[in-house]
Amino acid sequence: MKTVFIETLGCAMNERDTEHMIAELSEKENYVQTDDSDNADLIIINTCSVRERPVHKLFSELGGFNKRKKPGAKIGVTGCTASHLGRDIIKRAPYVDFVLGARNVSKITEVIHKPKSVEIDIDYDESQFAFKEFRGSSYKAYVNISIGCDKACTFCIVPKTRGDEISIPVDLILNECKRASEAGAKEIFLLGQNVNNYGRRFSGDHEKVSFAQLLNRISKIDTVKRIRFTSPHPFHMDDEFMQEFASNPKVCKSMHMPLQSGSSEILKMMKRGYNKEWFLERAQKLRNMVPDVSISTDIIVAFPGESDTHFEETIDVLKQVRFEQVFSFKYSPRPLTEAALMTNEVDPEIASERLAYLQGFQNSITDELADTRLGKVYEVYFEEQRDGGFVSGRSDNNIVIKVLGDASLLGTFAKVKVTKVGRMSQVGEIIV
Ligand code: SAH
Ligand code: F3S
Repeated sequence: MKTVFIETLGCAMNERDTEHMIAELSEKENYVQTDDSDNADLIIINTCSVRERPVHKLFSELGGFNKRKKPGAKIGVTGCTASHLGRDIIKRAPYVDFVLGARNVSKITEVIHKPKSVEIDIDYDESQFAFKEFRGSSYKAYVNISIGCDKACTFCIVPKTRGDEISIPVDLILNECKRASEAGAKEIFLLGQNVNNYGRRFSGDHEKVSFAQLLNRISKIDTVKRIRFTSPHPFHMDDEFMQEFASNPKVCKSMHMPLQSGSSEILKMMKRGYNKEWFLERAQKLRNMVPDVSISTDIIVAFPGESDTHFEETIDVLKQVRFEQVFSFKYSPRPLTEAALMTNEVDPEIASERLAYLQGFQNSITDELADTRLGKVYEVYFEEQRDGGFVSGRSDNNIVIKVLGDASLLGTFAKVKVTKVGRMSQVGEIIV
Protein backbone atom coordinates (compact mmCIF):
# COMPACT_ATOMS: atom_id res chain seq x y z
CA MET A 1 0.00 0.00 0.00
CA LYS A 2 1.17 3.49 -0.89
CA THR A 3 0.11 6.67 0.86
CA VAL A 4 -1.08 10.01 -0.50
CA PHE A 5 -1.17 13.32 1.35
CA ILE A 6 -3.46 15.96 -0.17
CA GLU A 7 -3.80 19.56 0.92
CA THR A 8 -6.95 21.22 -0.43
CA LEU A 9 -7.23 24.99 -0.79
CA GLY A 10 -10.13 27.10 -2.01
CA CYS A 11 -13.73 26.22 -2.68
CA ALA A 12 -16.07 23.24 -2.29
CA MET A 13 -15.46 22.25 -5.91
CA ASN A 14 -11.83 21.71 -5.03
CA GLU A 15 -12.88 19.59 -2.07
CA ARG A 16 -14.95 17.42 -4.37
CA ASP A 17 -12.05 17.18 -6.84
CA THR A 18 -9.86 16.02 -3.96
CA GLU A 19 -12.38 13.32 -3.00
CA HIS A 20 -12.43 12.16 -6.59
CA MET A 21 -8.63 12.01 -6.90
CA ILE A 22 -8.35 10.04 -3.65
CA ALA A 23 -10.95 7.55 -4.92
CA GLU A 24 -9.21 7.14 -8.27
CA LEU A 25 -5.81 6.68 -6.61
CA SER A 26 -7.22 4.18 -4.17
CA GLU A 27 -9.16 2.13 -6.72
CA LYS A 28 -6.60 2.03 -9.51
CA GLU A 29 -3.29 2.43 -7.69
CA ASN A 30 -3.86 1.10 -4.19
CA TYR A 31 -3.19 4.38 -2.37
CA VAL A 32 -4.55 5.24 1.06
CA GLN A 33 -4.86 8.79 2.36
CA THR A 34 -2.53 9.98 5.11
CA ASP A 35 -2.16 13.23 7.04
CA ASP A 36 1.58 12.71 7.49
CA SER A 37 3.22 14.48 4.53
CA ASP A 38 6.77 13.58 5.66
CA ASN A 39 6.16 9.87 5.13
CA ALA A 40 3.75 10.00 2.16
CA ASP A 41 4.64 8.41 -1.19
CA LEU A 42 2.71 11.09 -3.02
CA ILE A 43 2.11 14.73 -1.99
CA ILE A 44 -0.52 16.78 -3.79
CA ILE A 45 -1.49 20.42 -3.33
CA ASN A 46 -4.91 21.07 -4.83
CA THR A 47 -4.70 24.82 -5.38
CA CYS A 48 -6.92 27.89 -5.70
CA SER A 49 -6.07 30.95 -7.80
CA VAL A 50 -8.98 33.27 -7.11
CA ARG A 51 -6.78 35.63 -5.10
CA GLU A 52 -3.06 36.29 -5.30
CA ARG A 53 -1.90 35.46 -1.80
CA PRO A 54 -2.44 31.66 -1.87
CA VAL A 55 -0.50 31.52 -5.16
CA HIS A 56 2.54 33.14 -3.50
CA LYS A 57 2.24 30.79 -0.57
CA LEU A 58 2.22 27.79 -2.91
CA PHE A 59 5.90 28.00 -3.80
CA SER A 60 7.12 28.35 -0.23
CA GLU A 61 4.92 25.42 0.76
CA LEU A 62 6.20 23.32 -2.10
CA GLY A 63 9.78 24.06 -1.01
CA GLY A 64 8.95 22.88 2.50
CA PHE A 65 7.37 19.66 1.29
CA ASN A 66 10.36 19.00 -0.95
CA LYS A 67 12.81 19.37 1.96
CA ARG A 68 10.87 17.11 4.31
CA LYS A 69 9.51 14.46 1.95
CA LYS A 70 10.79 10.92 2.12
CA PRO A 71 13.25 9.83 -0.61
CA GLY A 72 11.48 8.92 -3.85
CA ALA A 73 8.17 10.57 -2.91
CA LYS A 74 6.43 12.44 -5.72
CA ILE A 75 4.99 15.96 -5.53
CA GLY A 76 2.11 17.15 -7.73
CA VAL A 77 0.28 20.46 -8.11
CA THR A 78 -3.39 20.25 -9.12
CA GLY A 79 -6.36 22.65 -9.35
CA CYS A 80 -6.76 26.23 -10.57
CA THR A 81 -3.18 27.44 -10.09
CA ALA A 82 -2.02 24.37 -11.98
CA SER A 83 -4.35 25.32 -14.86
CA HIS A 84 -3.18 28.91 -14.77
CA LEU A 85 0.61 28.51 -14.41
CA GLY A 86 1.04 25.13 -16.14
CA ARG A 87 4.64 24.24 -16.94
CA ASP A 88 5.91 27.43 -15.25
CA ILE A 89 5.36 25.64 -11.95
CA ILE A 90 7.95 23.02 -12.91
CA LYS A 91 10.27 25.75 -14.18
CA ARG A 92 10.10 27.52 -10.82
CA ALA A 93 10.09 24.36 -8.72
CA PRO A 94 11.89 21.69 -10.80
CA TYR A 95 11.30 18.98 -8.19
CA VAL A 96 7.54 19.07 -8.92
CA ASP A 97 6.66 15.79 -10.70
CA PHE A 98 3.37 16.71 -12.37
CA VAL A 99 0.89 19.55 -12.91
CA LEU A 100 -2.80 18.70 -13.32
CA GLY A 101 -5.45 21.34 -14.08
CA ALA A 102 -8.79 21.81 -12.32
CA ARG A 103 -10.66 20.43 -15.29
CA ASN A 104 -8.43 17.39 -15.70
CA VAL A 105 -8.50 15.78 -12.27
CA SER A 106 -9.84 12.51 -13.69
CA LYS A 107 -6.38 11.99 -15.19
CA ILE A 108 -4.67 11.75 -11.81
CA THR A 109 -3.72 8.07 -12.19
CA GLU A 110 -2.16 8.80 -15.60
CA VAL A 111 -0.01 11.78 -14.61
CA ILE A 112 1.59 10.11 -11.61
CA HIS A 113 3.32 7.76 -14.08
CA LYS A 114 4.45 10.41 -16.56
CA PRO A 115 7.45 12.31 -15.21
CA LYS A 116 7.09 16.10 -15.48
CA SER A 117 3.72 15.83 -17.19
CA VAL A 118 1.47 18.87 -17.50
CA GLU A 119 -2.25 18.28 -18.23
CA ILE A 120 -4.17 21.55 -18.22
CA ASP A 121 -6.60 21.37 -21.14
CA ILE A 122 -9.59 23.60 -20.26
CA ASP A 123 -11.64 22.13 -23.12
CA TYR A 124 -11.38 18.63 -21.68
CA ASP A 125 -14.90 17.31 -21.15
CA GLU A 126 -15.42 15.79 -17.71
CA SER A 127 -19.16 16.39 -17.74
CA GLN A 128 -20.01 12.78 -18.53
CA PHE A 129 -17.49 11.35 -16.17
CA ALA A 130 -19.10 9.67 -13.15
CA PHE A 131 -17.16 11.12 -10.22
CA LYS A 132 -15.89 8.54 -7.78
CA GLU A 133 -17.38 7.70 -4.42
CA PHE A 134 -14.77 8.45 -1.76
CA ARG A 135 -16.31 11.08 0.53
CA GLY A 136 -14.61 13.08 3.25
CA SER A 137 -17.88 13.00 5.21
CA SER A 138 -20.26 10.04 5.44
CA TYR A 139 -23.19 12.29 6.27
CA LYS A 140 -23.04 14.84 3.50
CA ALA A 141 -22.25 14.31 -0.19
CA TYR A 142 -20.88 16.93 -2.54
CA VAL A 143 -22.24 16.34 -6.05
CA ASN A 144 -21.05 18.30 -9.09
CA ILE A 145 -23.80 19.47 -11.41
CA SER A 146 -21.73 21.52 -13.82
CA ILE A 147 -18.13 22.21 -14.66
CA GLY A 148 -16.56 25.51 -15.71
CA CYS A 149 -18.20 28.92 -15.87
CA ASP A 150 -19.67 30.83 -18.82
CA LYS A 151 -19.63 34.23 -17.17
CA ALA A 152 -16.93 36.78 -17.71
CA CYS A 153 -16.87 38.70 -14.43
CA THR A 154 -13.97 41.05 -15.06
CA PHE A 155 -12.21 40.33 -11.74
CA CYS A 156 -12.41 36.54 -11.91
CA ILE A 157 -9.86 34.04 -13.16
CA VAL A 158 -12.11 30.96 -12.80
CA PRO A 159 -13.40 30.80 -16.42
CA LYS A 160 -9.75 30.74 -17.51
CA THR A 161 -8.84 27.90 -15.16
CA ARG A 162 -11.99 25.77 -15.28
CA GLY A 163 -13.06 26.54 -18.84
CA ASP A 164 -16.51 26.92 -20.42
CA GLU A 165 -19.58 25.79 -18.56
CA ILE A 166 -21.10 22.38 -19.29
CA SER A 167 -23.97 20.84 -17.35
CA ILE A 168 -23.57 17.26 -16.19
CA PRO A 169 -26.29 14.94 -17.55
CA VAL A 170 -29.25 14.67 -15.17
CA ASP A 171 -29.23 10.86 -14.99
CA LEU A 172 -25.61 10.88 -13.76
CA ILE A 173 -26.50 13.42 -11.07
CA LEU A 174 -29.57 11.49 -9.93
CA ASN A 175 -27.59 8.23 -9.76
CA GLU A 176 -24.89 9.86 -7.71
CA CYS A 177 -27.43 11.40 -5.29
CA LYS A 178 -29.16 8.05 -4.94
CA ARG A 179 -25.97 6.08 -4.29
CA ALA A 180 -24.56 8.62 -1.84
CA SER A 181 -27.79 9.00 0.12
CA GLU A 182 -28.39 5.25 0.29
CA ALA A 183 -24.89 4.98 1.77
CA GLY A 184 -25.88 7.41 4.55
CA ALA A 185 -25.37 10.91 3.16
CA LYS A 186 -28.83 12.30 3.86
CA GLU A 187 -27.69 15.74 2.84
CA ILE A 188 -26.75 16.38 -0.78
CA PHE A 189 -24.68 19.47 -1.55
CA LEU A 190 -24.86 20.41 -5.24
CA LEU A 191 -21.83 22.17 -6.67
CA GLY A 192 -21.14 24.43 -9.62
CA GLN A 193 -19.76 27.92 -10.22
CA ASN A 194 -23.16 28.98 -11.38
CA VAL A 195 -25.66 26.32 -10.30
CA ASN A 196 -28.86 28.11 -11.29
CA ASN A 197 -27.64 28.32 -14.87
CA TYR A 198 -27.90 24.51 -14.91
CA GLY A 199 -29.23 22.99 -18.11
CA ARG A 200 -28.24 25.70 -20.58
CA ARG A 201 -25.57 23.59 -22.29
CA PHE A 202 -24.77 19.89 -22.30
CA SER A 203 -21.86 18.31 -24.15
CA GLY A 204 -24.12 15.84 -25.98
CA ASP A 205 -27.74 15.04 -26.65
CA HIS A 206 -29.00 14.91 -23.07
CA GLU A 207 -32.36 15.56 -21.48
CA LYS A 208 -32.78 19.33 -20.96
CA VAL A 209 -33.67 20.11 -17.37
CA SER A 210 -33.64 23.47 -15.54
CA PHE A 211 -32.09 23.90 -12.10
CA ALA A 212 -35.55 24.13 -10.52
CA GLN A 213 -36.55 20.86 -12.18
CA LEU A 214 -33.28 19.25 -11.10
CA LEU A 215 -33.93 20.21 -7.46
CA ASN A 216 -37.39 18.72 -7.78
CA ARG A 217 -36.15 15.46 -9.28
CA ILE A 218 -33.48 15.03 -6.59
CA SER A 219 -36.02 15.68 -3.85
CA LYS A 220 -38.06 12.70 -5.08
CA ILE A 221 -35.28 10.33 -3.96
CA ASP A 222 -36.53 8.97 -0.62
CA THR A 223 -33.14 8.64 1.04
CA VAL A 224 -32.26 12.29 0.30
CA LYS A 225 -33.50 14.39 3.22
CA ARG A 226 -31.81 17.73 2.60
CA ILE A 227 -30.52 19.53 -0.47
CA ARG A 228 -28.10 22.44 -0.45
CA PHE A 229 -26.24 24.08 -3.30
CA THR A 230 -23.55 26.61 -4.08
CA SER A 231 -23.20 28.98 -5.82
CA PRO A 232 -26.26 30.44 -7.43
CA HIS A 233 -25.80 33.65 -9.43
CA PRO A 234 -28.09 36.61 -8.62
CA PHE A 235 -28.58 37.20 -12.37
CA HIS A 236 -30.19 33.76 -12.80
CA MET A 237 -32.51 34.01 -9.77
CA ASP A 238 -35.69 33.78 -11.80
CA ASP A 239 -39.18 33.15 -10.41
CA GLU A 240 -39.20 29.46 -11.36
CA PHE A 241 -36.07 28.88 -9.29
CA MET A 242 -37.29 30.96 -6.34
CA GLN A 243 -40.64 29.18 -6.37
CA GLU A 244 -39.03 25.72 -6.22
CA PHE A 245 -36.63 26.91 -3.52
CA ALA A 246 -39.48 28.24 -1.43
CA SER A 247 -41.93 25.38 -1.82
CA ASN A 248 -39.74 22.28 -1.75
CA PRO A 249 -39.39 21.17 1.89
CA LYS A 250 -36.18 19.23 1.20
CA VAL A 251 -34.41 22.28 -0.19
CA CYS A 252 -32.63 23.95 2.75
CA LYS A 253 -33.61 27.51 3.37
CA SER A 254 -30.28 29.22 3.02
CA MET A 255 -29.25 31.09 -0.08
CA HIS A 256 -25.85 32.38 -1.08
CA MET A 257 -26.33 35.53 -3.18
CA PRO A 258 -22.86 36.75 -4.18
CA LEU A 259 -23.37 40.52 -4.51
CA GLN A 260 -19.72 41.63 -4.99
CA SER A 261 -20.63 45.35 -4.94
CA GLY A 262 -23.69 47.39 -4.04
CA SER A 263 -22.95 50.02 -6.67
CA SER A 264 -24.66 49.58 -10.03
CA GLU A 265 -21.77 51.37 -11.70
CA ILE A 266 -19.18 49.02 -10.23
CA LEU A 267 -21.38 46.00 -11.00
CA LYS A 268 -21.35 47.12 -14.60
CA MET A 269 -17.56 47.36 -14.58
CA MET A 270 -17.51 43.87 -13.07
CA LYS A 271 -19.90 42.64 -15.81
CA ARG A 272 -22.13 40.95 -13.26
CA GLY A 273 -25.30 41.32 -15.35
CA TYR A 274 -27.52 42.79 -12.58
CA ASN A 275 -27.74 46.10 -10.76
CA LYS A 276 -28.37 47.15 -7.17
CA GLU A 277 -32.13 47.39 -7.66
CA TRP A 278 -32.44 43.89 -9.13
CA PHE A 279 -30.42 42.43 -6.27
CA LEU A 280 -32.47 44.20 -3.60
CA GLU A 281 -35.74 43.23 -5.27
CA ARG A 282 -34.71 39.54 -5.48
CA ALA A 283 -33.50 39.48 -1.87
CA GLN A 284 -36.71 41.12 -0.65
CA LYS A 285 -38.86 38.74 -2.68
CA LEU A 286 -36.95 35.80 -1.23
CA ARG A 287 -37.49 37.03 2.32
CA ASN A 288 -41.20 37.50 1.59
CA MET A 289 -41.50 33.99 0.15
CA VAL A 290 -39.37 32.30 2.84
CA PRO A 291 -39.48 34.35 6.05
CA ASP A 292 -36.82 32.31 7.88
CA VAL A 293 -34.38 32.16 4.95
CA SER A 294 -30.80 33.00 5.76
CA ILE A 295 -28.93 34.85 3.04
CA SER A 296 -25.15 35.01 2.71
CA THR A 297 -23.03 36.94 0.26
CA ASP A 298 -19.56 37.64 -1.12
CA ILE A 299 -18.24 41.20 -1.34
CA ILE A 300 -15.17 42.54 -3.09
CA VAL A 301 -14.03 45.91 -1.76
CA ALA A 302 -11.85 48.36 -3.68
CA PHE A 303 -12.49 47.11 -7.19
CA PRO A 304 -10.65 49.53 -9.58
CA GLY A 305 -12.44 52.87 -9.67
CA GLU A 306 -14.45 52.27 -6.48
CA SER A 307 -15.08 55.67 -4.84
CA ASP A 308 -16.31 56.35 -1.32
CA THR A 309 -19.80 56.81 -2.75
CA HIS A 310 -19.67 53.44 -4.52
CA PHE A 311 -18.51 51.81 -1.32
CA GLU A 312 -21.34 53.42 0.64
CA GLU A 313 -23.78 51.77 -1.77
CA THR A 314 -22.37 48.39 -0.74
CA ILE A 315 -22.84 49.28 2.94
CA ASP A 316 -26.37 50.36 2.09
CA VAL A 317 -27.15 46.89 0.67
CA LEU A 318 -25.70 45.24 3.78
CA LYS A 319 -27.97 47.48 5.86
CA GLN A 320 -31.06 46.71 3.81
CA VAL A 321 -30.64 42.95 3.30
CA ARG A 322 -29.13 42.13 6.71
CA PHE A 323 -27.18 39.10 5.51
CA GLU A 324 -26.60 36.28 7.98
CA GLN A 325 -23.05 35.90 6.68
CA VAL A 326 -20.74 38.03 4.53
CA PHE A 327 -17.50 36.77 3.00
CA SER A 328 -15.53 39.88 2.17
CA PHE A 329 -12.30 40.25 0.26
CA LYS A 330 -10.03 43.02 -0.88
CA TYR A 331 -9.89 43.12 -4.68
CA SER A 332 -6.87 41.19 -5.91
CA PRO A 333 -5.80 41.74 -9.53
CA ARG A 334 -5.58 38.42 -11.35
CA PRO A 335 -3.72 37.68 -14.56
CA LEU A 336 -5.82 36.82 -17.64
CA THR A 337 -8.72 38.98 -16.38
CA GLU A 338 -10.11 42.19 -17.84
CA ALA A 339 -9.92 44.08 -14.57
CA ALA A 340 -6.17 43.45 -14.32
CA LEU A 341 -5.75 45.92 -17.19
CA MET A 342 -7.65 48.69 -15.39
CA THR A 343 -5.35 51.42 -14.17
CA ASN A 344 -7.61 53.21 -11.70
CA GLU A 345 -6.61 51.07 -8.70
CA VAL A 346 -7.77 52.04 -5.25
CA ASP A 347 -5.03 53.06 -2.82
CA PRO A 348 -4.15 49.93 -0.76
CA GLU A 349 -4.57 51.80 2.53
CA ILE A 350 -8.06 52.93 1.58
CA ALA A 351 -8.83 49.36 0.50
CA SER A 352 -7.79 48.04 3.92
CA GLU A 353 -9.83 50.72 5.70
CA ARG A 354 -12.91 49.86 3.66
CA LEU A 355 -12.55 46.16 4.34
CA ALA A 356 -12.15 46.74 8.08
CA TYR A 357 -15.12 49.11 8.16
CA LEU A 358 -17.34 46.70 6.22
CA GLN A 359 -16.40 43.77 8.44
CA GLY A 360 -17.07 45.78 11.60
CA PHE A 361 -20.39 46.97 10.21
CA GLN A 362 -21.43 43.43 9.31
CA ASN A 363 -20.27 42.01 12.65
CA SER A 364 -22.79 44.13 14.49
CA ILE A 365 -25.57 42.88 12.17
CA THR A 366 -24.40 39.27 12.64
CA ASP A 367 -24.43 39.75 16.42
CA GLU A 368 -27.90 41.28 16.42
CA LEU A 369 -29.23 38.40 14.31
CA ALA A 370 -27.51 35.87 16.58
CA ASP A 371 -29.17 37.41 19.65
CA THR A 372 -32.61 36.79 18.16
CA ARG A 373 -31.89 33.03 18.10
CA LEU A 374 -31.70 32.58 21.87
CA GLY A 375 -34.40 30.14 23.01
CA LYS A 376 -35.50 29.25 19.48
CA VAL A 377 -35.85 25.63 18.37
CA TYR A 378 -34.25 24.33 15.16
CA GLU A 379 -34.18 20.97 13.43
CA VAL A 380 -30.48 20.09 13.32
CA TYR A 381 -28.70 17.47 11.22
CA PHE A 382 -25.53 16.39 13.07
CA GLU A 383 -22.39 16.02 10.98
CA GLU A 384 -19.24 16.53 13.01
CA GLN A 385 -17.66 15.69 16.36
CA ARG A 386 -16.11 18.68 18.09
CA ASP A 387 -13.70 19.21 20.97
CA GLY A 388 -15.03 19.20 24.50
CA GLY A 389 -17.57 16.42 23.94
CA PHE A 390 -19.66 18.39 21.47
CA VAL A 391 -21.32 17.30 18.25
CA SER A 392 -22.26 19.97 15.74
CA GLY A 393 -24.69 20.27 12.90
CA ARG A 394 -26.69 22.78 10.93
CA SER A 395 -30.25 23.93 10.95
CA ASP A 396 -32.21 23.91 7.73
CA ASN A 397 -31.33 27.60 7.37
CA ASN A 398 -27.64 26.92 7.88
CA ILE A 399 -27.12 27.99 11.49
CA VAL A 400 -24.30 26.01 13.10
CA ILE A 401 -25.40 24.60 16.47
CA LYS A 402 -23.46 22.28 18.77
CA VAL A 403 -24.75 20.12 21.59
CA LEU A 404 -23.08 17.88 24.16
CA GLY A 405 -23.22 14.35 22.81
CA ASP A 406 -21.34 11.48 21.25
CA ALA A 407 -20.80 9.94 17.82
CA SER A 408 -24.16 8.16 17.92
CA LEU A 409 -25.75 11.52 17.04
CA LEU A 410 -23.87 11.80 13.75
CA GLY A 411 -26.13 11.42 10.73
CA THR A 412 -29.29 11.94 12.79
CA PHE A 413 -31.81 14.80 13.07
CA ALA A 414 -32.99 16.32 16.34
CA LYS A 415 -34.88 19.35 17.57
CA VAL A 416 -32.48 21.64 19.38
CA LYS A 417 -33.17 24.66 21.58
CA VAL A 418 -30.49 27.36 21.43
CA THR A 419 -29.10 28.13 24.91
CA LYS A 420 -26.09 30.27 23.99
CA VAL A 421 -25.61 32.43 20.92
CA GLY A 422 -22.39 33.36 19.11
CA ARG A 423 -21.17 34.92 15.90
CA MET A 424 -19.98 31.67 14.32
CA SER A 425 -21.88 28.96 16.17
CA GLN A 426 -24.55 28.44 18.79
CA VAL A 427 -24.79 26.03 21.72
CA GLY A 428 -28.03 24.18 22.28
CA GLU A 429 -29.84 21.34 23.99
CA ILE A 430 -31.74 18.55 22.33
CA ILE A 431 -35.40 18.64 23.31
CA VAL A 432 -37.72 15.65 23.19
N1 SAH B 1 -19.08 31.42 -8.94
C1 SAH B 1 -18.48 31.54 -7.64
C2 SAH B 1 -17.32 32.48 -7.66
C3 SAH B 1 -16.07 31.81 -7.35
S1 SAH B 1 -14.89 32.90 -6.77
C4 SAH B 1 -19.47 32.14 -6.70
O1 SAH B 1 -20.36 32.85 -7.17
O2 SAH B 1 -19.31 31.93 -5.49
C5 SAH B 1 -15.47 33.10 -5.09
C6 SAH B 1 -15.45 34.50 -4.62
O3 SAH B 1 -14.14 35.00 -4.62
C7 SAH B 1 -16.23 35.47 -5.51
O4 SAH B 1 -17.59 35.47 -5.23
C8 SAH B 1 -15.57 36.80 -5.21
O5 SAH B 1 -16.20 37.46 -4.14
C9 SAH B 1 -14.16 36.40 -4.79
N2 SAH B 1 -13.21 36.78 -5.83
C10 SAH B 1 -13.13 36.30 -7.09
N3 SAH B 1 -12.15 36.94 -7.78
C11 SAH B 1 -11.60 37.83 -6.92
C12 SAH B 1 -10.56 38.80 -7.04
N4 SAH B 1 -9.90 38.97 -8.18
N5 SAH B 1 -10.26 39.56 -5.96
C13 SAH B 1 -10.92 39.39 -4.80
N6 SAH B 1 -11.91 38.51 -4.63
C14 SAH B 1 -12.26 37.72 -5.68
FE1 F3S C 1 -16.11 33.88 -11.48
FE2 F3S C 1 -18.22 35.25 -12.15
FE3 F3S C 1 -17.99 32.72 -12.89
S1 F3S C 1 -17.25 35.25 -10.15
S2 F3S C 1 -16.73 31.76 -11.34
S3 F3S C 1 -16.75 34.41 -13.57
S4 F3S C 1 -19.85 33.76 -12.12
